[in-house]
Amino acid sequence: MPNENRYVIDPESAAEFARLLKQERLFTTAMGGLLPEQPMQFRHVLDLACGPGGWALDLAQQAPGADVVGIDISQVMIEYANAQAVVSQLSNAHFEVGDITEGLPFADGSFDLVNARYIVGFMRRDAWPELLKECLRVLEPGGTIRLTEMETAETNAHSYETLNGLLSQAMYRRGMAFSEVRLGATAMLRHFLQQAGCEHIQEHPSLINYSYGAESHQEQYQNNAIIFKLTRPFILKFGLINPEDYDKWYELALKEMRSEDFCAVSFMNTAWGMKPTSASLSYP
Ligand SMILES: C[S@@+](CC[C@H](N)C(=O)[O-])C[C@H]1O[C@@H](n2cnc3c(N)ncnc32)[C@H](O)[C@@H]1O
Repeated sequence: MPNENRYVIDPESAAEFARLLKQERLFTTAMGGLLPEQPMQFRHVLDLACGPGGWALDLAQQAPGADVVGIDISQVMIEYANAQAVVSQLSNAHFEVGDITEGLPFADGSFDLVNARYIVGFMRRDAWPELLKECLRVLEPGGTIRLTEMETAETNAHSYETLNGLLSQAMYRRGMAFSEVRLGATAMLRHFLQQAGCEHIQEHPSLINYSYGAESHQEQYQNNAIIFKLTRPFILKFGLINPEDYDKWYELALKEMRSEDFCAVSFMNTAWGMKPTSASLSYP
């Protein structure tokens, strides 16, 4: 029986689709570009849980010599991404619907880069090793796995922190977050790459400052307003708070985020490693 999808938001929701269209640009800008820490030498790229495809489409545009494939569980997002590829005449970008926790529907050694950004929202904590194994299978020897996760924000807003805490706690109970008080995935990436047998592992941090007055304040305010609306049913399921109290915290959090002394930073970690080549494998 296939796994029940765990994404904390309905992946076919129009509001989620619209939110991700903006969020993917925001994150890419905060990270300094599509692949800021890598030489752009890749020819066959796979983007896991690609959402509406912004990262993959931009990469296909910037690297016309590369073939870029995106996979996501959402029909709506994949239809949009394929339509965008056609409209933008990007014959090197293709998207397909798939559940990446059920194995990757690609042949061994098909890619030289497998990228995954912000997948903690549906990954079971114990499913990462299997996913990493699949990534290595579809990578050619010497190919790169690149993982990026964002951490629960650090802020001076008590109500906003309360909502973030509730979300982490619900995700922890659902077997996804790595800690009851924050998502915790940023700390795990190097470990997962090591455990999978990757070589030359490196990490690169980035930060979004969305304090009041910062460039991304308004966008992150709207993003969070939608996130905490759309995750409300998921959070309430765990009985951590009653609906009336949740709604009070929600209104307070929005107010605090709009106030002139609101300060917030979110940390992202990008970790990458290489699949060993046969030359670097040691035989008994
Ligand atoms: C937070 S978004 C990240 C989107 C994109 N990677 C980015 O960085 O902008 C998570 C994505 O995971 C997708 N998703 C949820 N469950 C999935 C699954 N089991 N397999 C593949 N994609 C999934 C959702 O549809 C959504 O597009």
